[in-house]
Amino acid sequence: MNAPAKNEDFAVKIPDGVYAETVLAVEHYTDRLFRFRMTRPAGFRFRSGEFAMIGLMVGDKPVYRAYSVASPAWDEELEFFSIKVPDGPLTSHLQKIKPGDTVLMRKKPTGTLVLDALTPGKRLYMFSTGTGIAPFASLIRDPETYEKFDEVILTHTCREVAELKYGFDLVEEIRNHEFLAEIVGDKLKHYPTVTREEFSHKGRITDLMTSGKLFADLGVPPLDPATDRGMICGSTDMLKDTKALLEKAGLTEGANNKPAEFVIERAFVG
Ligand code: A2P
Repeated sequence: MNAPAKNEDFAVKIPDGVYAETVLAVEHYTDRLFRFRMTRPAGFRFRSGEFAMIGLMVGDKPVYRAYSVASPAWDEELEFFSIKVPDGPLTSHLQKIKPGDTVLMRKKPTGTLVLDALTPGKRLYMFSTGTGIAPFASLIRDPETYEKFDEVILTHTCREVAELKYGFDLVEEIRNHEFLAEIVGDKLKHYPTVTREEFSHKGRITDLMTSGKLFADLGVPPLDPATDRGMICGSTDMLKDTKALLEKAGLTEGANNKPAEFVIERAFVG
């Protein structure tokens, strides 16, 4: 007769040197998008806007992908906003997580979409498409953003209206938040646009900048390196096209060790 199985025979093996955190909540928006919240390890420090490597055990191997932390640095939980790729090595599994499940996270966060990488300015533009809104979900909930800028403009472009919901919920949450509401006041402007359905603001953000409609709608002057700063997060093509427009307006790209007028980062894709 075999010896009775011990508990550890069934335990998921956690790789050394990574955090194993518990999923607290999951919300599905569309068949392509969802967000989840999980516990935050006591020792995990990050700057709002940075990303971490998030993973799951798939069979006996960990699979990781880069994820911007969508929650702000002060939050005691961690939030992430994700796409679902049917055959994605990680997201095909991650989209099935439920509260109580374990998610892995590597210990060191990093990234360029941080306030430290920008020189002081008056107005901060955050340009995002799809899940590229995630690092800005963190930054627009961080009081430091409003200490450094008088005006914060979050643009979010998606193919369909339903994909904008995460951004709408976020802004609503800030407006009703016990301490953020007062800090943010009317400094935050949300500019959602849609490219493949009817909506109040239609078109790619790049086209809306080129035509001047974005600035007219917001009632602000065109981009000016003396006052305006930018952060861009989206697909490779979106980064390239948006960056070209900022450079044309005279803004230069910065980095952690060399702050300047704008910074870019590719949104998580697979
Ligand atoms: P479009 O519908 O015209 O392609 P995706 O889901 O493919 O990442 O796209 C997210 C959003 O980003 C879509 O609304 C898409 O518009 C837009 N987009 C794609 N490429 C660019 C680009 N080069 N510049 C600006 N916006 C873009």
